Amino acid sequence: MDKIYFDNGSTSFPKAPGVGRAMAELLEQGAFNINRGGYEGAYEVAERVLDAREMLAKLFHAESSRQVIFTPGITWSFNMLLQGLLCPGDHVVVSGMEHNGVMRPLEYLRQTFGISYDVAKTSEEGEVTPEAVEEKIGPKTKLVLVLHASNVCGTVLPIEGIGEVCKRHGVFFAVDTAQSAGTLSIDMQKANIDFLAFAGHKGLKGPQGIGGFLITPRLDACVRPVILGGTGSHSDLLTQPSELPDKYESGTMNLPGIIGLHAALSYLEEAGIEVIRRKKEVLTRQFLEGVTGIPGVRVIGKKTMEHRTAVVSLDFLEMDNAIAAFYLEQEYGIMTRVGLHCAPLAHQSLGTFPKGTVRFSFGEQNTEEEIAKGIEAVKKILENRDHL
Ligand code: ALA
Repeated sequence: MDKIYFDNGSTSFPKAPGVGRAMAELLEQGAFNINRGGYEGAYEVAERVLDAREMLAKLFHAESSRQVIFTPGITWSFNMLLQGLLCPGDHVVVSGMEHNGVMRPLEYLRQTFGISYDVAKTSEEGEVTPEAVEEKIGPKTKLVLVLHASNVCGTVLPIEGIGEVCKRHGVFFAVDTAQSAGTLSIDMQKANIDFLAFAGHKGLKGPQGIGGFLITPRLDACVRPVILGGTGSHSDLLTQPSELPDKYESGTMNLPGIIGLHAALSYLEEAGIEVIRRKKEVLTRQFLEGVTGIPGVRVIGKKTMEHRTAVVSLDFLEMDNAIAAFYLEQEYGIMTRVGLHCAPLAHQSLGTFPKGTVRFSFGEQNTEEEIAKGIEAVKKILENRDHL
C-alpha cells in the first residue's frame, strides 16, 4: 500500500531537495567549527552560516542579519524570551490558540516567579481580533505573544492588526511562526514584531533540531541571556558578550542543522513561497470541500478557506478519533496526527478538549490524487464504523 503523508504540521516531509546532501557533505567532508577554527574550511562553513542568517533576515524583513539567532527551535526560543525578559509583577497577553511551547514556560513562571497572563477572547473558529488583545492589555503588560497560524485548525491570526495595537500601547510583540514560516509572507517591520520565533523543519523544509528567533534591538536591550558560555568571541572575558548574535548563541552550534536549513532556504527562494502557498491552498480547498457535509464528521475551526493555512482538523462524532486515525493509517496508509497536538488551550477554545481531533496537514509535495484518497478514506471509515 502506498503511504500518504498528511502530517506536515508536525514536520514537513520530504525535506527540500538538497537538504540531506548538504548535511552529509558537511559531515563527511569537513564539519569544522566556526568562530573557533582559524583555517580555510572553517571560514567556508562560517560563510554559509552567515548566508543562512541573511536569507532569514530577508525572508522575515529584519533590518540586519545580526538579529537572527539560531536555537534548536521555537520552544527554546520562547523559553529564552520569557525567562530572559520577564520580571515578577509583569503581565503577558496570549491568544487562546497557543501551543504548550509557550503555555508551559508561561504557566511555570506564573506559579514560581510572580508573573501573570491573560488569554485574549478567542472564537470557536480560533479567531482572535486586535480588539480582543487590546482589551487584555493593562498597565503591567510587557508582552503580547501570539501564534501566526494555529497548529490545530489552521486559522491565521491578524498579526499586523495586533502589532499595531502593541505599538500604540508600547508593549513588546512576539509571534510564533511555526505553521506559517515558508508559506505566508511575514514582514517583521510592517507588523511591528519585536520577536519572531521560527522552526527550520516545518514550512521552511529543513531538518529537525534547528530553528531560532529574530529580535529587534529595542527588545534585545531588555532581555537577559539565559544560556551563557563560550562564543569564540571576547575569549579574554569571563562575562557574556552583549552583541548579537553571540549574546544568545553560546556553545558549539548545530552546524549540520544550519547547513541543511541553508539548502532549504535556497530552495524556497528558487521555488517562491507564494507558489508553494497557492499549491497548498488548492489541496486544502479540495479536502475541505470533500469532507464538508460527510455525515458523522465535523470540520473544527474555520469552515472556509479565508485566513487559514493547510491544516484541517476533523472530529469523528460517533467514534474515538484515535481509532479513526488508526484505521486511516492501517487500512489506507494515511498518516495524520490525532489528539491534542500539544495545544490543550487551543482545543479548549475550539470546544474539542479533551477529545481532540484528527489533524490533516498538507505539504507542497502532496497531490490532488492523494487528497481524493484521503476524502474517500474518511467516507469509508464512517460507513464501516459499526464493524471497526
Ligand atoms: N507542534 C507540532 C505539531 O503540531 C509538533 O504537531
